[in-house]
Amino acid sequence: MRYPPFEIERFFMRHEFSAPYAISASDCEPLTMDEILALAGPERREQFERMWLGYTESLGHPELRAAIAGMHAGIDAGHVLEVVPEEGIFVAMTGLLNAGDHVVAIHPAFQSLYELARSSGCEVTFWRARDGDDGWTIDIDELETLIRPDTKMLIVNFPHNPSGLLPTRADFERIVELARRHNLILYSDEIYRFAEYDPAARLPSACELYERSLVLGGLSKCFGLPGLRVGWLITRDAELMRACQDVKSYTTICGSAPSEILALIALENAEALIARCIDIVQSNIEVTRSMIDRHSDLFRIHFPRAGTVGLAELTADAGVSDFAQAAVEGAGVMVLPAKVMQFEGNYFRMGFGRRDLPHALEVFESFALDYLR
Ligand SMILES: Cc1ncc(COP(=O)(O)O)c(C=O)c1O
Repeated sequence: MRYPPFEIERFFMRHEFSAPYAISASDCEPLTMDEILALAGPERREQFERMWLGYTESLGHPELRAAIAGMHAGIDAGHVLEVVPEEGIFVAMTGLLNAGDHVVAIHPAFQSLYELARSSGCEVTFWRARDGDDGWTIDIDELETLIRPDTKMLIVNFPHNPSGLLPTRADFERIVELARRHNLILYSDEIYRFAEYDPAARLPSACELYERSLVLGGLSKCFGLPGLRVGWLITRDAELMRACQDVKSYTTICGSAPSEILALIALENAEALIARCIDIVQSNIEVTRSMIDRHSDLFRIHFPRAGTVGLAELTADAGVSDFAQAAVEGAGVMVLPAKVMQFEGNYFRMGFGRRDLPHALEVFESFALDYLR
């Protein structure tokens, strides 16, 4: 099978480790090894130091699977498959979809969420998030019109990358009901879940509501641990689980032994790590708000209610792709433009999770004023 270039990954490959400033990162400030080990109790610390560096259990470390299950109502360790987050998308799409299947996918989206379905020979219909006066919106009546008798899977991602959109609970339940009524596999990417600024806004996980859902989660975003490469797929459907396990045997086979123990330490300290993330994000949102208020003739944004990302619009008379190119070349600021995320409009992604965002925004602001005025 051939896969088209993953535009966002190409972009990050080119700039992530050379541009000194990032305003579009999707992760929360990564922890250092010292910081994560400082959270470990003496037993985990000893377990980490004495760990055997052999192959690990292919479904994931039993304690880790139990800890992940414990974060989801009605789920047990048998419903959990440990994966690298991106691998979770790969095993789900390649394991469950066949050429000729019809798939409905939210758009814009992290490219692999729809590209792998296309590469598998599926017909993909986009369910488009729209920029409304009061925030990004999705239309569930429209979703209903997109579902066909041959639709096999519905792909959603809330909190949404890149817009930050988080539906109401009632709307999310309507989406789940639609999936149920049409017997669809509901692929729910929840990798930005747990970082709702108001805990009451947290949606139930799709795996808690619907048996034929497949949920992706992981430690890359709100837990600040993307370098561990630890994520999970959850489903209560044994057939879906089996299909994903089978593909995993062709990808990583099993998880990384050190990462599994570090992931356990992270989940035992989940509340503190999530609070840390929300703290950083909320403070960065205020700094960004001030910057945008100062230049409301140039930029516009709906701030998210959850997660680490949002979409800003460049309302000045300039194309965002050229603007982003000039920003990275001229000022060393990495700005992710809409085109790299394969959608139209003069938007760029804002990432609120990095501690140095206030400084990066100062450099960005001074570049933007020179370039745009
Ligand atoms: C919605 C979504 N799902 C999955 C992933 C994959 O996570 P990772 O890059 O840690 O594999 C990402 C990464 O940006 C993402 O935004």
